[in-house]
Amino acid sequence: MGWEIAGYREIKGGHLHLDGVSARRLAEHYGTPLFVFSESRVKANVRELLESARRVHPRVRLCYAAKANSLLAILRAVREAGADVEVNSGGELYKALRAGFRPEQIVFNGVSKTFEELEEAIRAEIDAINVDSLAELEMIATLAERLGKRANVALRLVPEIETGSHAGLQTALLTSKFGLSPSEIPKGIQHALAHSRSINLVGLHVHVGSQTPTREPYARAFAMMWRLALALYRETGHRLRHVNLGGGLPVIYAHDDRVVAEVGERGQLFRAAWDIGALLRAMLETALEVAKDRAARDLLEDLEILFEPGRRVIADAGTLLVTIRNLKTRSETRDTWLFLDAGTELLPSMSHYKWYYHVISADRTAEPHETPYKLAGPLCDGGDVYFDIEGTAQLPAYRFLPEGLRIGNVLAVLDVGAYTVAQMSNYNGRPFPAILLITSSGDVRPIRPRQSYEDLVRGESV
Ligand SMILES: Cc1ncc(COP(=O)(O)O)c(C=O)c1O
Repeated sequence: MGWEIAGYREIKGGHLHLDGVSARRLAEHYGTPLFVFSESRVKANVRELLESARRVHPRVRLCYAAKANSLLAILRAVREAGADVEVNSGGELYKALRAGFRPEQIVFNGVSKTFEELEEAIRAEIDAINVDSLAELEMIATLAERLGKRANVALRLVPEIETGSHAGLQTALLTSKFGLSPSEIPKGIQHALAHSRSINLVGLHVHVGSQTPTREPYARAFAMMWRLALALYRETGHRLRHVNLGGGLPVIYAHDDRVVAEVGERGQLFRAAWDIGALLRAMLETALEVAKDRAARDLLEDLEILFEPGRRVIADAGTLLVTIRNLKTRSETRDTWLFLDAGTELLPSMSHYKWYYHVISADRTAEPHETPYKLAGPLCDGGDVYFDIEGTAQLPAYRFLPEGLRIGNVLAVLDVGAYTVAQMSNYNGRPFPAILLITSSGDVRPIRPRQSYEDLVRGESV
């Protein structure tokens, strides 16, 4: 089956096992909905990316995008596997430090950072604050001077590079809200260099978007940053420490050809895959076409190349176990509906972006998945479904599962590690589910309990 991953996501005794642990047993023991994360898978994902990249350029660093999933146990696993971290708020900075990252492992993005957040980042002496506007750069210079510190900053650029991803997930277009536009870049560089007592200009940053289907946008972003870094060095002698290519490395979500066949080209977005090593090879070759002299070679060799992958690290390490709680068959449409105990409140991208998550049976996993069902979540909201009610054709109308499913059967929603736990809501008064981590040694460790009703009203007054 396309979704199986040897040693991690497998069928044993007819049903789904995660790291050798029976998903059905976990559902029985802990109840559903239930998030299950695999520490080994998180670490394998980080190591695979690092090894593949560093074979080509030893100075590659991965700054895991905490926004994808900032559970402390996940941050710790990512750190132990050799990654650094990217944060987007004071809260994520706090969590990263709590999870044991050293300040020099942390980069900080954000379009709307507060004075307090900037002060926290400057005081902590993090690796880079990725500056999103000229106004913010001035703010940092003033703040750092007042604190008697020299802030490490990188300039976030918005170079008008298109990708084939969802419009809301493209972030290098001039119509997006991010970064400094090409006309602002020289001013940003000048300002940073003119305030070198309070600002240490360490890098440049471009994030082209999320689930980016091809590598070309990265190659273009790198070529642009490399030209700037080289020109800066030649004109002023200032050497940048890094260029940062952001996140957006894609994940295969669609494990069923029928999905791609039904939703056509958009379905390919959920099949995207490319190799980070091949990207780096192509980027470095192009860089040397721009300039081959000794100084350029040295600059390139010393240059750290950062990536900020989120979903590529954590998506397939997370599974959501859900139970069928209700069922109806409509003779008029001949549809059988399965009502699950989780939907868009835990999988918000399913409604924001019509995101596809593959669903399989967790207790009858080995049986043919050939029967079409309409899947719906529990919310009192017509949009809480696993298909696209607007018919914009990015989600398939039906999911294929074993014949004759009943109330009480357990399903598994795959590849749900990213942008779920980090974005879920208590809509309709539904407590957050419990979260388990299967540790590298195979132990099942609860890392966050299911919320109680009392949790839903904590801190409120009547
Ligand atoms: C600046 C930045 N870096 C990294 C990421 C992580 O993206 P992904 O999870 O697609 O790798 C994002 C997400 O949108 C981002 O905005």
